[in-house]
Amino acid sequence: MRSNDIEKVLYSSEQISEKIKEIAKQIDNDYQDKPLTLIGILKGSYIVLSDLSRAITIPHHVDFMSVSSYEDTESTGVIKVLMDLRNSIKNRNVIVVEDILDSGLTLSHILEMLKTKEPASISVAVLLRKPTQVKKNVDVKYLGFDLNPPEFVVGYGLDYNEYFRNLPYVGVPTQEAIEKYSNK
Ligand code: IMP
Ligand code: MG
Repeated sequence: MRSNDIEKVLYSSEQISEKIKEIAKQIDNDYQDKPLTLIGILKGSYIVLSDLSRAITIPHHVDFMSVSSYEDTESTGVIKVLMDLRNSIKNRNVIVVEDILDSGLTLSHILEMLKTKEPASISVAVLLRKPTQVKKNVDVKYLGFDLNPPEFVVGYGLDYNEYFRNLPYVGVPTQEAIEKYSNK
């Protein structure tokens, strides 16, 4: 059932689940017999990471990172690590999992930081990509969907002022919902 706060559903839970199964199959093939770590960037990736991890059948580690958002640090251009990885990724094959790639600034900073930890390889999986807005080119190996036109979306981990992460689909919030939740 669609929430009254959602104007239209862009990707249903069935569509997303099909796509995640496809991506998991590719990952199963690409990383057979290799030490694999999935890294979820909090908070937006928690749903896609848990679904993807359960759809992958090869053994793997799961770890998380939390960073300050780029918008908070625009003046310095430095992203602060709020929560770092718990385990070493040295000589491991890393897949960084994100909910959405917008300007690409957050993810490109994260990739630079992770490279200093000497992983065997590093690649990126994102559920959604806003193609017209990429300021910094980030190579995406596993992509859910290209969001074109690049609307503001919520659900499946994506929030508006921390709400709507729990929706099992990706959709566009109504103008009323934007106003209702604008000051939390
Ligand atoms: P960027 O790629 O550095 O611009 O940052 C991407 C981050 O911005 C994502 O991890 C989201 O937290 C947030 N974001 C970008 N577009 C949306 C959207 O449409 N809905 C919700 N969050 C978004
Ligand atoms: Mg996010």
